Amino acid sequence: MPLVSNENVIVGIETSDDAGVYRLNESTALIQTVDFFTPIVDDPYLFGSIAAANALSDIYAMGGKPLVAMNIVCYPTKDGDLETLRQILHGGAAKVAEAGAVILGGHSVEDREPKYGLAVTGIVAPDQVITNRAARPGDVLILTKPLGTGIIATASKADLAPPESFETAVRTMATLNAAASLAMRRAGVQACTDITGFGLLGHAYEMAAASGVSLVIFASAIPLLPGVLDLAAQGLIPAGAHANRNYLCDKVSFDQDVPLVLQDVMFDPQTSGGLLIAAPKDRAASLLEDLHAAGVAGAQIGEVTAADPGTIRVVR
Ligand code: CO
Ligand code: CO
Ligand code: CO
Repeated sequence: MPLVSNENVIVGIETSDDAGVYRLNESTALIQTVDFFTPIVDDPYLFGSIAAANALSDIYAMGGKPLVAMNIVCYPTKDGDLETLRQILHGGAAKVAEAGAVILGGHSVEDREPKYGLAVTGIVAPDQVITNRAARPGDVLILTKPLGTGIIATASKADLAPPESFETAVRTMATLNAAASLAMRRAGVQACTDITGFGLLGHAYEMAAASGVSLVIFASAIPLLPGVLDLAAQGLIPAGAHANRNYLCDKVSFDQDVPLVLQDVMFDPQTSGGLLIAAPKDRAASLLEDLHAAGVAGAQIGEVTAADPGTIRVVR
């Protein structure tokens, strides 16, 4: 993509951040993001809610408030199953309403393979934008959702996911990052990204590179969805996890005692994953308390250091 230079662009494409941010005036900036994908679960209503929670997440990761959204629909309408499409749209609409935002319309195209998502617009004060380029040495890394949705979705397609794993994964994916975002804003956090297709390590790397810092991640502190290590040990790893590992091979190093299955989970592409927050050390404990009080499963999973900018070291 050609780089644009415009004095009102606060966040453009240079730092691979979650969304673009454009200053409207002194008090308000627009946050713009779009996300859509193929069904990750069979239940159409759940698919709609997960796709919407995922699309809204980029607004929350930037510290913003979602305002309006547009549906993006690819669907085989000629096959005539409009009830399924209705369920997808209802699931999405309910999730957007839960976020306090409004769907204004959308666009659909005829497509053999269904896809659904949203373009979302949010707002934030220009001086309160939370980016992936603001992590500083000494910050504490906090993750707000357990990992493993890609592995569990892969297992589920082969009918190998235990019901508890699947149900917890679905509940986690359909949960908005709204409460987590509110808590980090209250704590005055400046650096965050959400965990989606590039996995924990892919998005952590983007934060390290954009911020010019390195990250140390404590593998055993990472919250995991139930049963995910067993499924990874059975080889139920989505192709995207291997692609993420290949892309990051010279950027991430693992201590020898970090189990291979745990490494796989850290590369696992997430759908509607949690926020990865870099919080100033003196505010981390109260932020974690605040997250837990809000029912968010926040855990400290690492720290930011100055050595070797743009790299990640994973320790046990
Ligand atoms: Co994102
Ligand atoms: Co996105
Ligand atoms: Co149109």
